[in-house]
Amino acid sequence: MTDIERVGVVGCGQMGAGIAEVCARAGLDVMVAETTGEALELGRTRLVNSLGKAAQRGKITEEERDVTLDRLAFTTDLGDFADRDLVVEAVIENEQVKTEIFQVLDQVVTRSDAILASNTSSIPLVKLAVATSRPDQVIGIHFFNPAPVQQLVEIIPALTTAEETIKRAEAAVTGLLGKHTIRAQDRSGFVVNALLIPYLLSAIRMFESGIASREDIDNGMEMGCAHPMGPLKLTDLIGLDTVASVAYSMYEEFKEPLYAAPPLLQRMVDAGRLGRKAGAGFYAYS
Ligand SMILES: NC(=O)c1ccc[n+]([C@@H]2O[C@H](COP(=O)([O-])OP(=O)(O)OC[C@H]3O[C@@H](n4cnc5c(N)ncnc54)[C@H](O)[C@@H]3O)[C@@H](O)[C@H]2O)c1
Repeated sequence: MTDIERVGVVGCGQMGAGIAEVCARAGLDVMVAETTGEALELGRTRLVNSLGKAAQRGKITEEERDVTLDRLAFTTDLGDFADRDLVVEAVIENEQVKTEIFQVLDQVVTRSDAILASNTSSIPLVKLAVATSRPDQVIGIHFFNPAPVQQLVEIIPALTTAEETIKRAEAAVTGLLGKHTIRAQDRSGFVVNALLIPYLLSAIRMFESGIASREDIDNGMEMGCAHPMGPLKLTDLIGLDTVASVAYSMYEEFKEPLYAAPPLLQRMVDAGRLGRKAGAGFYAYS
């Protein structure tokens, strides 16, 4: 049993839209926040298209699509999150931006035992927790991309997180959303990115040094190791800015050379080649 009915999602990019969809499809009342009306419209379109595709593919009926859309509300004012039981922050991987959002959420969310969660891939949860007056209620709930498809969610308690918060978060993610959880300590990269990011960075270094073409690197892992997607395609899917930010946080934490972003990755981010979401990364997308 869980006491979560009203969810807030901050950020409606790739992950925020996916998380909002998962929650709305589970029957929850969902409010999504973005910075500007334009970003909100982009996010809403992302959600409408994703639900439309799910209906076309027969994963949900057209009626379920419409009911799900009715459960979603959109705002540019975090003040509208006052009545939320659970908030999942899913904005860009930037510590300062996330910290400011947690400070605002702490002010506006009125329920005294609301859970304030972050979908961060690498930023220490404890830093977000201590930005609030309720560090015992802050936790990492880390979904995978695309959230409606991927079964896994990492649960990351900060040093300050109460056992009760961990239990309620796990119950909501498994019982309400039907996902599988694994628990990780609050160390940059947690479980999956700690293993994945050095692999992706190694593939970028291999491409950068001219050892093989991007297609041969991806085909190597798809056909040689049965990975569903090669590392350069996967980097494009995640977003090169996100991969670079996660690598930066992991390198800051461990000073492990394998976590250092190769120059090509940073240059591509500087050039705006952020991957699928920008129409270009290691590959071009229409
Ligand atoms: N991309 C992935 O594969 C993946 C997987 C798991 C977790 N994550 C994590 O999820 C988070 C979001 O990643 P993404 O891929 O969705 O990024 P994205 O670039 O697709 O979306 C980020 C969104 O945040 C919005 N935003 C920025 N500042 C905001 C603010 N102050 N208030 C409200 N919205 C704001 C932006 O307008 C944008 O729409 C990051 O912390 C990332 O590390 C990403």
